[in-house]
Amino acid sequence: MADKTPFEPDDSAGTSGMRRGLTSYGDQGFSLFLRKAFIKGAGFTDAALDRPVVGIADTGSAYNPCHGNAPQLIEAVKRGVMLAGGLPMAFPTISVHESFAAPTSMYLRNLMSMDTEEMVRAQPMDAVVLIGGCDKTVPAQLMGAASAGLPSIQLITGSMLTGSHRGERVGACTDCRRYWGKYRAGEIEAEETADVNNQLVASVGTCSVMGTASTMACIAEALGMTMPGGASPPAVTADRIRIAEQTGAQAVQMARDGLTIDKVLTPAAFENAMRVLLAIGGSTNGIVHLTAIAGRMGLETDLAALDRMGRDTPVLLDLKPSGQHYMEDFHHAGGMATLLRELKPLLHLDAMTVTGRTLGEELERAGPGFRQHVVRSMADPIYPQGGIAVLRGNLAPGGAIIKQSAADPKLMEHEGRAVVFENIEDLVTRIDRDDLDVTPQDVLVLKNIGPKGAPGMPEAGYIPIPRKLARAGVKDIVRISDGRMSGTAFGTIVLHVTPESAIGGPLAYVRSGDRIRLSVANREIALLVSDEELARRAEAMPVVEPSAERGYLKLFLQTVTQADQGVDFDFLRAPKSAGKVPR
Ligand code: FES
Repeated sequence: MADKTPFEPDDSAGTSGMRRGLTSYGDQGFSLFLRKAFIKGAGFTDAALDRPVVGIADTGSAYNPCHGNAPQLIEAVKRGVMLAGGLPMAFPTISVHESFAAPTSMYLRNLMSMDTEEMVRAQPMDAVVLIGGCDKTVPAQLMGAASAGLPSIQLITGSMLTGSHRGERVGACTDCRRYWGKYRAGEIEAEETADVNNQLVASVGTCSVMGTASTMACIAEALGMTMPGGASPPAVTADRIRIAEQTGAQAVQMARDGLTIDKVLTPAAFENAMRVLLAIGGSTNGIVHLTAIAGRMGLETDLAALDRMGRDTPVLLDLKPSGQHYMEDFHHAGGMATLLRELKPLLHLDAMTVTGRTLGEELERAGPGFRQHVVRSMADPIYPQGGIAVLRGNLAPGGAIIKQSAADPKLMEHEGRAVVFENIEDLVTRIDRDDLDVTPQDVLVLKNIGPKGAPGMPEAGYIPIPRKLARAGVKDIVRISDGRMSGTAFGTIVLHVTPESAIGGPLAYVRSGDRIRLSVANREIALLVSDEELARRAEAMPVVEPSAERGYLKLFLQTVTQADQGVDFDFLRAPKSAGKVPR
């Protein structure tokens, strides 16, 4: 019978396209017959179904304005796929926005990565386009795609436009924090906070400064996972739509060439991404996410080596919060090509990208640079070392980090008295009380906001300046926690203290009145309390690790790793080690 052949899964078309991953009915031919029957219910022809299939992970959501352009992007990706002879198939996955996820978006990043991995694996597709933008979405998609192993290409939603408040240019979210700080200090009235609230987010798209979203966009391009120039176009521009079309077309080519994600996510690619993270003054969250993505490829992040890399990688990108510009300015300055050209001597130019060409070949194709003011030269950096420094000491045996490029130089060598908050509730209750015993020379310590403690390692590490100090004009104070902070935040803030307090890390045993020494020059964070005294405290007050009876929270608490392993679930990391990065 002539019409039987199209339903044989091992016919000349092999196991590509709609023939991939057939549902288990115990009869492969029937599985394909049934699949085709159902999809034909949506009006598809056999000619369409014989094309290479490109899945498009749709993370549009009414709860995610950072992805508000997803419908336009999907339309453009589909156009690109069809122009290149493929069949586009959009499918939904979890979408996570920073301000609409309780207790914190980080709690859901791994769930989104599992969703992405399993839907990419379960559904028939030869390549996948990952549409992400808001902070946790790009890492979640790269983690999931890395584990799924298909040809994969990242499409960034793009940054929002900046707004204008009473003649001043503003953008989320560095300016959100700045204006809120002014309000807390009594410098502006409630009426002005309402006015500026209308201007901080001037369009759909991701935060307009070098926050986590912009950081991950730059990292994705540095990893070779986006089209060249894919990191910087703002969400509402024609450039962004053109990148989307190119992304769709390239996904078809990747499917034809068998350019799987493991050929792109190599140790060299991760080292390039780490260089870029340091050179852009990127979000501290970038380390956690890169560590998690690398972990899916069997690569462990060597924090000491990363710190050494930071010592000869200056911050070149003049964007808030480390500098003064916004993402749209970076785009006008040539975007990542301008930055990578400057960083060229420090990069692995032979690293493969999703185009099938190396990073070096793409830089050649990008042509010469031009005069601009957003990316500095190596000879004239905005900060002489990488944006992030790794600290160690008896308070953080597994490491801690500080964004030195956004810290107060006067506080980076500092010893002070600890003022301890046991958890977020304690902080909220006491931080603004007039009788809080605190001075600008003290060190604020917040416990129990690590991966298990909060849970989900929320961005509460940006501990607010106590109101009475803020009103006295204090703009910065040393702060320490086992949590994270937004990439849009700034200050002398030590984060990711590992191991976290909730599992009995030394941070759990700090008491108000203890002395703490921070020396960024020596990469040290020290609790000036003897080991014997700490052991006595641990014995007197043993830590009970958080647990849950059921559900995702139970899975989370039982399997989440510490910051030095990317806060991924242990069972999602690659089973075999492939070495360390940077090497
Ligand atoms: Fe989505 Fe900032 S809240 S990128």
